[in-house]
Amino acid sequence: MRKTMLMKNPPDHMRLRRLVSRAFTPHVIETLRPRIEQLTDLLLDNMEGQSSSELISEFAFPLPVLVIAELLGVPANDRDIFRDWARAMVGALDLQSDRTEMDAADAAGEECEAYLANLVAKRRTTPKDDLLSLMVAAEDDGQRLTEDELLANAMLLLLAGHETTVNLIGNGVLSLLRNPGQAARLRNGEVTLASTIEELLRYESPVQLTVRRAAEDTCVAGATIPAGGHVVLLLGAINRDPEFFASPDQLDVGRADNDHLAFGDGSHICLGASLARLEGQIAVSSLVKRFPDMALFNSLVHWREQASLRGLKELRVAF
Ligand code: HEM
Repeated sequence: MRKTMLMKNPPDHMRLRRLVSRAFTPHVIETLRPRIEQLTDLLLDNMEGQSSSELISEFAFPLPVLVIAELLGVPANDRDIFRDWARAMVGALDLQSDRTEMDAADAAGEECEAYLANLVAKRRTTPKDDLLSLMVAAEDDGQRLTEDELLANAMLLLLAGHETTVNLIGNGVLSLLRNPGQAARLRNGEVTLASTIEELLRYESPVQLTVRRAAEDTCVAGATIPAGGHVVLLLGAINRDPEFFASPDQLDVGRADNDHLAFGDGSHICLGASLARLEGQIAVSSLVKRFPDMALFNSLVHWREQASLRGLKELRVAF
């Protein structure tokens, strides 16, 4: 993880980020729209004719995984192994991780790295039209990514594709089902899809916190953070702060000036935000259109036991 851009300071941070950022500009991401719509329709076709569905495993999880796997150039057939690796690796990102979880994350990281190293070797001899080949070819002022950096950052992208957008879709659909009046505003065209997705990101933020370490003694709001001290930044709390948002605990899909921090802020602001927004918009609108009578199967839902990433263990819906 230490070799990912997420954990780097300047100048390494910008060097690593710049190498992949060209694949994530809003313009490039928009070109993925037809393929994301096609994958969405295929998943929804599989659910047709059923009276109910477990939406996380049948829809919210496979969609972002198929998209990121395809973008990077990882065979979709291997997605189940990646799910297990991704689950184990995010264990290391959580605040309460114990030794066993850290060891499991290490082991998964090593296996995932070996898998990707094999794929990278293939791309070196036979490049394809995918992000992994672009990373292999990437040069930054004549300076290539080291192999370690390439693998670490490819893993970061895969991980981000597995563990965040899934929760935007899952948490978002739950929020709409719990607030049918708001879902109706989307359906009757009173509010835009874009504004709905922004509010879903604010209301049940998929990434609840991030951490920074003070480089030097720093005073914030009267508190001194000593050099080397860690600060936990609660994005989920900021997004419900009454000083910034009127009636923050209410879902309002037409909310104006929705300046939420679900994608973070500053130099590490989410690189995949355009992709996540596009996937979220296509997923939610297609689902709502295809299954207008969709309802929660039962009112009790189970959240995954994690502080940093907020997502559902499962979401059973009736059609
Ligand atoms: C709803 C979905 C997503 C949410 C809520 C989200 C949230 C975030 C947040 C809060 C950060 C900043 C972390 C920090 O400052 O410490 C971040 C960084 C990042 N995200 Fe996302 N993310 C999402 C989807 C994605 C996707 C789909 C990708 C790419 C496939 C992605 C790639 C990244 C990368 C590479 C970084 C690190 C950027 C850097 O360090 O410069 N994210 N994300």
